[in-house]
Amino acid sequence: MNRLLANSVLRRCAINGGRSITGENTLQSSAAAVISLRPFDPAVIVRDHDFGNFQWMRMMNSGAEPTAKAPSVKQADSEKKKEGDDEVVPSSYWGISKSKVMREDGTEWPWNCFMPWDTYESNLSIDLSKHHVPKNFVDKFAFRTVKLMRIPTDIFFKRRYGCRAMMLETVAAVPGMVGGMLLHLRSLRKFQQSGGWIKALLEEAENERMHLMTMVELVKPKWYERLLVLTVQGVFFNVFFIIYISSPKLAHRIVGYLEEEAVHSYTEFLKDIESGAIENVPAPAIAIDYWRLPKDSTLKDVITVIRADEAHHRDVNHFASDIHFQGKELREAPAPVGYH
Ligand SMILES: [Fe+2]
Ligand SMILES: [Fe+2]
Repeated sequence: MNRLLANSVLRRCAINGGRSITGENTLQSSAAAVISLRPFDPAVIVRDHDFGNFQWMRMMNSGAEPTAKAPSVKQADSEKKKEGDDEVVPSSYWGISKSKVMREDGTEWPWNCFMPWDTYESNLSIDLSKHHVPKNFVDKFAFRTVKLMRIPTDIFFKRRYGCRAMMLETVAAVPGMVGGMLLHLRSLRKFQQSGGWIKALLEEAENERMHLMTMVELVKPKWYERLLVLTVQGVFFNVFFIIYISSPKLAHRIVGYLEEEAVHSYTEFLKDIESGAIENVPAPAIAIDYWRLPKDSTLKDVITVIRADEAHHRDVNHFASDIHFQGKELREAPAPVGYH
């Protein structure tokens, strides 16, 4: 509830340039008191350290120089070219211009893929060891299916957890999108509210995609690995789509067990970082902003918050499956929107 309130306050403040409708500057008082945005680190580092089949790299950077101005939102004139900017700005025939969002320290918000109000501090107190004991045929089928899926993954990747994580995140972001999409269509067909579950599942898909966006800052996939992603996505999307239509309780249970495996994989990843088998490189800038991490965070901090996310996904999906097992629809139980 507090998080939703904080997001609401921050969004309103950012859009209004940190000013309330009475003209008072609220961003530095209320919103900034709730969340603190970390300054963007503009350093660019290219490393040659091997990480499985991939090469470590830090490449994305679009941070703006700090300015002395207070936090504000400015309407950028998209028809004008910036001084010294050779890139041609698309014509704004439709009158759509990009809002410039500023941090409280005066630097420009560098990301278009997520905004300050989409960021959060991960809840690391979540129980990582929780496991749903299979109780009936559907549970056992889901559990065995996930264990079977793990065999080729273990054979292919072994302990190359960077590659493994990046590839698995390309799959992990699919179920939330499929479930959210099908619930959306159901809501339209039946003229019914979804109870917040559309938003909760799409949030999960977006969160998983941000895991991927973080991993691609650290590893560079080879051409055959990109081909594998294409193939796996084509198969997995369609299979999961059919499973979700046929049995949402099975679909959510499978995802619940997949997330349990993800927690396990990231725990092993952390062990390799702690033992020195994987270098604990500086955290990517996108991760520092998305999880509101300290500027000097490392890969270990990033993997720790991603693992906590996976544990939250585990809970959401087992919960969703339990609702179906009780003979109810998801909309009858309040959705865990904003559960991180
Ligand atoms: Fe993930
Ligand atoms: Fe996940």
